[in-house]
Amino acid sequence: MGINFCNVNFPRNGVLASGILGVTGCSMANVAENGAGGITCKSISKNERNGHPTPVAQVYEHGLLNAVGLSSTGIDNSNKELKYLRENSDAVVIASVFGATPEEFRDTAVMLDEKNVDIIELNISCPNVADEFGLAFSATPESAASVVKAVRPATNKPILVKLSPNFPNIGRIAKSCEDAGADGITAINTVGPGMLIDIHTYQPKLSNKCGGVSGPAILPIAIRCIYDIYKSVKIPILGMGGITTTEDAIQMIAAGARIYGVGTGVIIQGKDIFKKINNGIDAYLADKKISYDDLVGIAHKQ
Ligand SMILES: Cc1cc2nc3c(=O)[nH]c(=O)nc-3n(C[C@H](O)[C@H](O)[C@H](O)COP(=O)(O)O)c2cc1C
Repeated sequence: MGINFCNVNFPRNGVLASGILGVTGCSMANVAENGAGGITCKSISKNERNGHPTPVAQVYEHGLLNAVGLSSTGIDNSNKELKYLRENSDAVVIASVFGATPEEFRDTAVMLDEKNVDIIELNISCPNVADEFGLAFSATPESAASVVKAVRPATNKPILVKLSPNFPNIGRIAKSCEDAGADGITAINTVGPGMLIDIHTYQPKLSNKCGGVSGPAILPIAIRCIYDIYKSVKIPILGMGGITTTEDAIQMIAAGARIYGVGTGVIIQGKDIFKKINNGIDAYLADKKISYDDLVGIAHKQ
C-alpha cells in the first residue's frame, strides 16, 4: 500500500528508524528489500565523529540500552552511502542530521546531496552546546524551534523533527516546530537515561554508564507521546518507539501516527518485520472493514 507522507509517496508503510543498520548503503538497501518503505540513515554530522568506546549497547529482557554517542562517518562519506541506497532501492530516503548549534544543523543539511535524499530529519535529541546546562535542543519549545528556523530557509526538502520523550509537554514542543516550519514530526527517540549493572563486576554495562532505552519497554510511553502530539499539531507524525508486532503498529497509528517506524524491533525480530506488520495491518483493516485513513488517529474520535 502506498502512503503519502509530507507530500512524498512511500511505496510501503514502515520506516527504518535512525541508528539501526543505517550506516552503509548496502545494509540500508537490504532493509528496504526486506519490506521497509522508508529508510532513515544513522544521524549524520558535518565532520567525522567517534562515538563512545564499546560496549555501547546491551540487549535485556524488555528492550535495548544504548549509548553509541552519535558516531558519524561525516557528510562526504554519508553522501556516498545515500547514493548507493538511492540507486539500489525504491524506498524513500530520509537523511537524519544533527549538529551542536542550529547553524551546524543547517550547514550539514545543505551539504546533503539533494538528488539522493527525499526528506531531512533533524535529530534534535543531541546536546545544545549554547545552552548553559547542555540540554538537548528538544528540551524546550524555543530551542527546538531555533533549529527548525535555521534549517527551513536553507532547503526545499520536507523537514521532519525528531523529538525526545524525556522532557515535559511534547505536544507543545511539536507545535513550536510546526509553527517554525516543520513538515512533520518523528517521535519518539530513546527514553532515559537508563542504566544496567553487571552482577559479577558490579560495573555499569555500558562504557558511558548510562544510555537510552528502546524496544518493547517504551511502547506505552511512545503511544502516549504520539497521542499528545496528534492533539497539538496538524502536520503528520512518523510514530516509533517499541514496535515489534502488528498490534503495536496499529496502536501507534490509532494514536495518530500517519506512518510507523521500527528500530530495535529489526534487531529483535529481523529485517522482514516490516512485511509481517504490513500484512497484519492489511488483514486487520479488512476484518474491521475500515480504511487506513480511518485508522489514523481513530483513538481520538471514540
Ligand atoms: C543502537 C541505536 C542507535 C540509535 N541511533 C540514533 C541516531 O543516530 N539518531 C536518531 O535520531 N535516533 C537514534 N536512535 C533512536 C531510534 O531511531 C528510535 O527513535 C528509538 O530507538 C525508538 O524506537 P525503537 O524502540 O523502535 O528502537 C538509536 C537507537 C538505537 C537502539
